[in-house]
This record gives sequence, structure tokens and C-alpha cells, in this order.
Amino acid sequence: MTKPVLYLAPIQGITDCLYRNAYSRLFAGYDFAVTPFIKSCVVTRNTCTALRDLFPQRNDTRFGLIPQILSNTPSDFISMAKALFDLGYKTVNLNLGCPIKQIRNKRRGAGMLPYPAEIMRMLNTIMPAIPNQLSLKVRLGSENNREFIDLISLLNDLPLKDIIVHPRIGSQMYEGEVDLAAVAEILSLSKHPVIYSGDIDSPETFKRLANRFPDMSGWMIGRGGITNPFLPEQIKKLPSGTAQEKLNRFKSFHDELFDAFQKTLSRPALITGKMKGLWRYWAKSFTGGDKLFKAISRTRSVDKYLLLVKKYFDTNL
Ligand SMILES: Cc1cc2nc3c(=O)[nH]c(=O)nc-3n(C[C@H](O)[C@H](O)[C@H](O)COP(=O)(O)O)c2cc1C
Repeated sequence: MTKPVLYLAPIQGITDCLYRNAYSRLFAGYDFAVTPFIKSCVVTRNTCTALRDLFPQRNDTRFGLIPQILSNTPSDFISMAKALFDLGYKTVNLNLGCPIKQIRNKRRGAGMLPYPAEIMRMLNTIMPAIPNQLSLKVRLGSENNREFIDLISLLNDLPLKDIIVHPRIGSQMYEGEVDLAAVAEILSLSKHPVIYSGDIDSPETFKRLANRFPDMSGWMIGRGGITNPFLPEQIKKLPSGTAQEKLNRFKSFHDELFDAFQKTLSRPALITGKMKGLWRYWAKSFTGGDKLFKAISRTRSVDKYLLLVKKYFDTNL
């Protein structure tokens, strides 16, 4: 593994197995991917659909996969972690960062962070009972930025694999400043390896953060790497090719994803919906991308979608 160690962030609705497979075939740079969360439940034959995205036969990536579970129920978490171990996953990640209000209100995701006793009860129950190593993905808090920091001394006694930190609080969702002073404090207090996640959108931003935090164990890239799929290669200084080669690679990525959606989704509006979700990010990488995105957003027809994209590439690039 070449340093820096890079993680593909979980982005619900985007970084599913189709995205990860196509990405891994066409681009380099990531060492691991944490998958978007699955909600925990007791795994029986009937509930295995929740695990479908993680079936080994559906996943063909050069980087390692770490499944993420959203749960505040130890028995469900244990059942799911064991099922994932049987599928070959030696590490699972617990989501303590989801900012969605309805989820936080149920004391899940970042909504657990104001309740340290509940978190510790959960961790002390699940950790001895699961065969996997446990990684955490956290925010600074649900409503205030001390909640996670106050928990660190308790976590230091547990054999966690690592802690991935997105330095915002839940009510910020994905906007506003990341709190880098809090990151420095977490690094100084935590005995566990810390992985940083938040707003890495260019090699320059990465460099600034890496210089400030030389003890960081890994770096997670989300929206910036969806917008610019070459970003991990650029950060690792791997060759990306000429402008034309990069464009061809991007087009292949687009086509692979489009074909995969066409094969797996039943209705045209679902296919264009998935492509819109991607263009929301990709558009920022192309001149006039916002206009293309608006046009794509208005169509539910697959043929019209393909025409718009072809016309854009033919005339603009
Ligand atoms: C639409 C969306 C969906 C996300 N889904 C998840 C998720 O399922 N699990 C998780 O831990 N984080 C999730 N995140 C948070 C990201 O993994 C990441 O921590 C956050 O976006 C900050 O990193 P970035 O600025 O590089 O995107 C999501 C973020 C966005 C914008």
C-alpha cells in the first residue's frame, strides 16, 4: 500500500457496488472503500436483500471493502456483522455520523453521540460478540462539537481498528466549515488510528491538510472524488494520461455505469435518475456542466438523456 492511504467515502445512492466496480476498473488510487450504510436487522434468509450490495460475487474491486452498518441495537448489529464475516468481511464500520434528522431523532448515526453511556453499552456488548474488527465513523457531535471528544477517553480502552472523523456536527449536514481545531484535539487524545474525512476536493487541499496533520493514518475522499474521479491518482501522483486519454477514460466510466444501470434497473426514470445523481457532481468538472445538468434533470427518457450527453461531448470537448 502506497502512502497516503486513501479511502473512498460512503455516499449513499452513489458509491454502490456498480460504482465501485466500474471505478476500480478504470481509475487508481484508493486503498479501501467504506460502503454506504446498511440498516442493521437480524439476518435471516428473507432479509438478505439488505446485504445484496455486499455479496462477494457482485464486488470486484482492487481496493478493500469495509461494510458500514447503521444501528443502535446490539443484537441486530451482531447478527449482521457475523453474516458479513461469513461473506469474507474482516472489518465492519459502525455509523455514528449520519446527520439526517429523522435518523438522529431515533438516536442512530450522529444522534447517538449525545448519549455516551448508550454508545459504550452498545460497544461493550458487540465487540466481544463479533468476529470482525470494528471501525467507527463519527462526526464531532449531533448538536455540539464536544460530544465525540468527550467520548474519546472511554473509547481508548477498547480495541477499535480505527476511527474515521468527519469534523462537522449533525445539524451542519454537509455545509459550513470543517472544524480542524477539533481534529487536532482528537489526534492528540485518541489512542486509535484516525482517518480524516471532509472537503478534500483538490491535491492542494489534501497537501494543506496532510502538512497540518502528519500523524493522520488515512484520508477519506467523498464528494471531491465523485466530482473529479482522477483526484486519488492526482493526490498519489500516479500518471493519469493526456487530456484526451483522461476524457476517454471518463467516457468509459460513464458508459460502464450507464450500461450497468440499464441492465439492473427496470424503469427509464430510474436509470436517468441515477445518471442525474452522478451528473450533479460531474457537472462541476466540465465547462458548461451546469447547463447540461439542468437539461438532464428535465428528462426521464433514456434516449433523450443519451442524446444530450453525446451532443455535449461532441460540441464542447
Ligand atoms: C449524499 C451523501 C451521502 C452520504 N452517505 C453516507 C453514508 O452512507 N455513510 C457515511 O458514513 N457517510 C456518508 N456520507 C458522508 C461522507 O462519507 C463524508 O464523510 C462526507 O461527505 C464528508 O466528506 P467529503 O467532503 O469528502 O464528501 C454521505 C455524504 C453525502 C453528501
